[in-house]
Amino acid sequence: MMTETEHPQPLTSHPTGALKGSALVPGDKSISHRALMIGALSVGRTRINGLLEGEDVRATAAALRRLGVTITREDDATTAIDGVGLSGLAEPAAVLDLGNSGTGARLLLGLLATHPLVAQLTGDASLVTRPMNRVIEPLSRMGAGFTARDGGRLPLTVIGARLPVPITYQLPVASAQVKSAILLAGLNTPGETTVIEPQATRDHTELMLRHFGARVTVTDAGPGARRITVGGHPELEARPVRVPADPSSAAFAAVAALIVPGSDITIPNVGINPLRTGLYTTLIEMGADIAFGNQRVDAGEPVADLRVRASSLSGVEVPAARAPSMIDEYPILAVAAAFAEGPTTMGGLAELRVKESDRIKAITGGLAAIGSEFEEGGDRLTVLGTGRPPRPGKATVATQLDHRIAMSFLVAGMAAEAPVTVDDGSAIATSFPGFTDLMNGLGASIGEAAAE
Ligand code: S3P
Repeated sequence: MMTETEHPQPLTSHPTGALKGSALVPGDKSISHRALMIGALSVGRTRINGLLEGEDVRATAAALRRLGVTITREDDATTAIDGVGLSGLAEPAAVLDLGNSGTGARLLLGLLATHPLVAQLTGDASLVTRPMNRVIEPLSRMGAGFTARDGGRLPLTVIGARLPVPITYQLPVASAQVKSAILLAGLNTPGETTVIEPQATRDHTELMLRHFGARVTVTDAGPGARRITVGGHPELEARPVRVPADPSSAAFAAVAALIVPGSDITIPNVGINPLRTGLYTTLIEMGADIAFGNQRVDAGEPVADLRVRASSLSGVEVPAARAPSMIDEYPILAVAAAFAEGPTTMGGLAELRVKESDRIKAITGGLAAIGSEFEEGGDRLTVLGTGRPPRPGKATVATQLDHRIAMSFLVAGMAAEAPVTVDDGSAIATSFPGFTDLMNGLGASIGEAAAE
């Protein structure tokens, strides 16, 4: 497998003084994908304020354009989508390339599965290794046909169902992407489509579908489980959307401020949907000073301004049941844990094996490179914090085409005993364009790595 880009961009993060100021973090990636896709199926012009300009979301926008949707920039902050209406997607004349984005690929397969057209999907060296059977299986039951590479991998061809049938589907793994793919497929399907999830996962699709006028009901289905039903053929009407700052991106600035002594920063307008805030709960349990000011609700999503001050952190046991609400945050939690006093144990990590990289491997590789000790086994990881900053050696961190691994270990370098170099920062642009400038604006010192 290719594990780096054609033109890798090694970056080095140097130890720095206190971070100060306001960090304007880009828009939420999950909400941005959904706003584009649901806007595309609506009647009228949807205006999105603060859409993430990252490569993942651009790939989704490009794919939707190939499906006949017009997407334009109205001004610096506003993206307009002229929706084609439910069942209005056109058969694409070229392959749809979703780049690095699992969310883009899986949610789009949901849309395509119940449109009578044929489409081919592919992605970058990371995405073509990721499992698609988890969406192929339920979407086939709804009537779609698929021809995929061995193991259900991209590139694949989807033949959308002419006469889709509604299903009731019990998710084998807690996955918002699979849930969302089925709910989106249910839009162009008669009757009611139901997903039962074993643990609650991010509900941005449900909230946004309601915001656009769809019928979505959510009921309890046993301890922690939920049953979500979408009514077929809703009248989706264009609605304005304001995308909050991504709590998963804000996490990098927040942990940087916690571990660099003397820091005091604000991060405005961060999404605090309770199904996304497991990392913040965990950090507060570790002793973090994080205040959630000016709490409000915007287009159905809760939002707050964060103030984060440097704190002495202690190790904690993170319950496995919390994993869905912080699934993307384990790399940066592992970094916070490396600066904490005492062990931090994380369980329920099996899904990390199939993210943008095998994240357990990438995290432990990074911890070893920065000189932090850990124990790993099965779906558990324990980071053995000593209360003293780790002392990195000369090894560079292998980012494995994974934006979150790159950003996490650059944050580590800001407070470690010596600089930290990551082998390739180019993937950062998938979710957090402007990361380096933003961090340096707060006082960090991240730049191109010196040639060997
Ligand atoms: C996402 C869901 C999560 C997450 C991903 C974004 C989404 O994946 O890791 O970055 O937008 O629905 P899974 O649902 O596969 O856990």
